[in-house]
Amino acid sequence: MKLLYPTSLSLDPKLLQGFNASIHSYDVTKPIPEDLTDAEGLITWCNSPSNLKDAASRCKKLKWIQSLAAGPNDVLNAGFDPKTVTITTGSGLHDQTVAEHTLGMLLTAARKFHLMRDSQTQGKWPGNLGGPQPDKAPGTFTTLHEARILVWGFGNIAKTLTPYLRALGAEVKGVARHAGVRDGVQVYSEDQLPELLKGTDALVMILPGSDNTKHALNAKRLRALPKHAWVVNVGRGTCIDEAALNSALDEGAIGGAALDVFEKEPLDESSPLYKQKNVILSPHAAGGRPRGAEGLIAENLRRFLAGQELKNVL
Ligand SMILES: NC(=O)c1ccc[n+]([C@@H]2O[C@H](COP(=O)([O-])OP(=O)(O)OC[C@H]3O[C@@H](n4cnc5c(N)ncnc54)[C@H](OP(=O)(O)O)[C@@H]3O)[C@@H](O)[C@H]2O)c1
Repeated sequence: MKLLYPTSLSLDPKLLQGFNASIHSYDVTKPIPEDLTDAEGLITWCNSPSNLKDAASRCKKLKWIQSLAAGPNDVLNAGFDPKTVTITTGSGLHDQTVAEHTLGMLLTAARKFHLMRDSQTQGKWPGNLGGPQPDKAPGTFTTLHEARILVWGFGNIAKTLTPYLRALGAEVKGVARHAGVRDGVQVYSEDQLPELLKGTDALVMILPGSDNTKHALNAKRLRALPKHAWVVNVGRGTCIDEAALNSALDEGAIGGAALDVFEKEPLDESSPLYKQKNVILSPHAAGGRPRGAEGLIAENLRRFLAGQELKNVL
């Protein structure tokens, strides 16, 4: 079997040795070289759309694609035949970095570091943000202690994030397709959202991008949140109706938004989100460095060669 790995990140190919497979590197920005088009396995990371389209049309023996992204929307959009090609995701490889980024966004929102930085760059002392302050004034989001955090999309990243939030005293609830208790957190189904949103200080979105999650957070749901509530999105940009979010911010219907992902990336420079005072933007920076990729690839390569079910099948 021939397995292709990308040069877009430094993998240690030695960790993939010892299998009855030949391992070859390929450039994710160029067409697949002719002598590699008979590969059965393809590992992808930050491939150009044209490279994936080319692989879909020329690599006719492909049976397995291991994406190192948790949400491989790029691979799904490339035109591979789902009847012959199994796609496995990199879910689990980004848990720590995305959880840390989310925690940073929540703390920035609560402690107002973004406003302090705005003043700093103008050479101004942000006196209104310092000095004596009320502790946990009703209708504010100023601390994670006893903050009611609702995590919508309660998968691997949410499970890594939860202990960080709890360590700071937050109350964590989840929303997912299936209700139940996960890692000690009560997870609700989406039909409970109207009630849940009312009692939320910060809504953290970690949903995958799909037709089912498109504009999951819409105008109606945004208005169900308290006026001081913050929205954090580290899942996929398509899960929020950005125009409705912008209107909610204009009208003061929510406290603010911290966004790492957008409906279209890069976010167009004409987007009104750049000008919103209570918005923190990061350029899809939460993930970006799959950790332990070799371990997942080796495990799935072993399973593939043994004819077993693969891990993280989409
Ligand atoms: N910003 C970044 O750099 C970055 C990095 C990595 C990942 N991500 C994004 O984060 C997403 C989540 O990653 P993960 O590893 O935590 O994924 P995961 O373990 O697969 O968890 C996904 C969660 O979303 C829920 N879900 C899926 N479809 C849903 C729907 N239609 N309605 C409600 N809930 C739904 C699932 O519910 P059930 O458990 O009930 O099935 C599950 O709880 C990825 O898909 C990716 O798009 C972003």
